[in-house]
Amino acid sequence: AAERTLSIIKPDAVAKNVIGEIYRRFENADLRIVGARMVHLSREEAEKFYAVHSERPFFNALVEFMISGPVMVQVLEGENAIAKNRDLMGATNPKEAEAGTIRGDFAESIDANAVHGSDGEDTAAAEIDFFFGQGGICPR
Ligand code: CMP
Repeated sequence: AAERTLSIIKPDAVAKNVIGEIYRRFENADLRIVGARMVHLSREEAEKFYAVHSERPFFNALVEFMISGPVMVQVLEGENAIAKNRDLMGATNPKEAEAGTIRGDFAESIDANAVHGSDGEDTAAAEIDFFFGQGGICPR
């Protein structure tokens, strides 16, 4: 079914100037960008976005990294968008990500891992609302 998912191009990939390369992969996989914003997250915003991980040992490092520079946030729409985006991203740990995946090709470490993508229908809805709840989605 047609779905929407939230994608974030993280500070490492924005700094590497590969936003377009990553967008091309989305588009080649028949995912449409129906909303996009560039934002430099505040600490409070990053902590709120990743609140589900607040008790994990990597939480502080994750937040520090996510506020280290601007991120590019987009809503992707298409058939099985959630799973398709996760396939395009590859494994969370770039050491385990296959070549040809976004993380396999562009990520450096488990924190600087180039992209985030929603992991299920509920998180997709919540994450889209987090960034686009005030508007900004342009259905086509
Ligand atoms: P992301 O998909 O953005 O969701 C949470 C992030 O935490 C994850 O990608 C990684 O960048 C980061 N992270 C750091 N350490 C770990 C870990 N041990 N397990 C999962 N995620 C981790």
